[in-house]
Amino acid sequence: MTRTHLTYSEYINDRAVIEALRLPRQGDEWPTPPADWKPGDDWPTGGGWVHHEVLFIRTHQAFEVWFAQIIHDMHAVISEAGAYWASRGGQLDRLDFEAPTAARDETKPLDPRGFPLVAATLRQAGEQYLGDGRALLEGDGGFQAPGRLHGRGGIAAPKSASEQAEFARLLTSWTARLHCARLAVRSTLSFFDVLATLTPAEFLLFRDRLQPASGFGSIQFREIEIMLGLRELHRPKIQPDGGTDEAAPGEPSLPEGMLRPTKATPQNQFAQSFYFAQPPWGWERVAKRYREHSLRDVVYGLLNAAAEWGDGDLSASRLDEFVDLNLQASIRDYFRGSGTPLPLRGVDADGFRNAVSEVDRAMAQRETLAAAVLEMDIHRTPLTTFLDACLRLDGAIVEWRDRHIRFVEGQIGMRRGTGGGGIQYLRQTVSPRKLPYYTHGFPALWLARTFVQKRSGA
Ligand code: HEM
Repeated sequence: MTRTHLTYSEYINDRAVIEALRLPRQGDEWPTPPADWKPGDDWPTGGGWVHHEVLFIRTHQAFEVWFAQIIHDMHAVISEAGAYWASRGGQLDRLDFEAPTAARDETKPLDPRGFPLVAATLRQAGEQYLGDGRALLEGDGGFQAPGRLHGRGGIAAPKSASEQAEFARLLTSWTARLHCARLAVRSTLSFFDVLATLTPAEFLLFRDRLQPASGFGSIQFREIEIMLGLRELHRPKIQPDGGTDEAAPGEPSLPEGMLRPTKATPQNQFAQSFYFAQPPWGWERVAKRYREHSLRDVVYGLLNAAAEWGDGDLSASRLDEFVDLNLQASIRDYFRGSGTPLPLRGVDADGFRNAVSEVDRAMAQRETLAAAVLEMDIHRTPLTTFLDACLRLDGAIVEWRDRHIRFVEGQIGMRRGTGGGGIQYLRQTVSPRKLPYYTHGFPALWLARTFVQKRSGA
């Protein structure tokens, strides 16, 4: 009889899932690996099943199911954003903060005509504290034009009512997707609680089986990080120094953009390379994500576009007012921190210059400026709501890393990981000493929070 109705099982595809969740029959053993086993071959296992190992494998599988959902939502936003840019005749910039570009090296001295308020504050502060009205405006340590680095939005502002409605509709739907992705990330945190019922001694019963693999090789987790925008962090893993694009004899060819480590590759990069840590079927997945746009590209693209459109809060006069507010706040903070009683005497000229150049450095990125100014509006817009959803997702991923670190400490303490790293390695992934674009998807959004000021009259 030909069946005509759909079953739950066909729709959910649970057969494949159940197959992946299978347990060995009583008395079954892991196959003993052949003597010539090498990475990329079947899992090198041996010895009988350990009861607790089932929980260990299930937990990782559960993570992978949710990672797939997170990827699904992030991918939708990234691809729709790319299509939106294309539909408006532009192209979304593919950011790489470590690639040398003219845009990043460019320095432009402050033009007092463009920033009259900032110029007046600098002149007055120079006069008052350094005895020279032009000292902070000119010369080597002179203030640069704010927002000079990065900055290609590449699309015209949505002008007509229907264009604006379409833009708002897209942002609202992207926000909902990232909200879902964030909750999915956060919901996996409780999986660690379940796995933590495994005692260190129980873990040791089967831990050696994993060598030299670990969660470090999770293909989907790497996809999430790359899709978030952590391109610079992963460059050495996907393109190790001294690597080659030629396949090793008898191995599948490498996907575009991925390199295989060679003898010339430093040892730590070799062990961390995706080539080594992942099976060949995963290579194409990570390499593809690496070639594609990321959420960081979308966020920075939107901030740059908003700055280019330059209307309302991002008009030149608003930016002048905004930078000036921050400059004045920083000067006030400097004197509070320096302990010099007011009225001021004997200002440390270098310290003072440094305080001013800190504002200058922070204001150098147009994305940060745009994000801070947008954030100052107490009325939310579809754009600010979307940017907030991005920041929250970014935060949830850092939270995931923190939770994993606490969990790992509870399982193996300071012992080396099966992947050869350990707690020291994991702590680096959240270290404030790292460049912010290594640990966070959208550094501009986080930095902008430092500079949000109460609006005059608000
Ligand atoms: C007893 C359980 C676990 C222990 C002892 C553990 C330990 C570690 C250690 C030490 C590392 C650093 C690399 C290495 O030396 O291997 C690592 C990396 C990692 N683990 Fe775990 N882990 C455990 C469970 C999990 C689970 C359930 C997941 C969920 C998928 C996971 C995901 C990851 C990921 C994604 C990394 C790479 C982090 C990065 O490079 O930023 N781990 N783990």
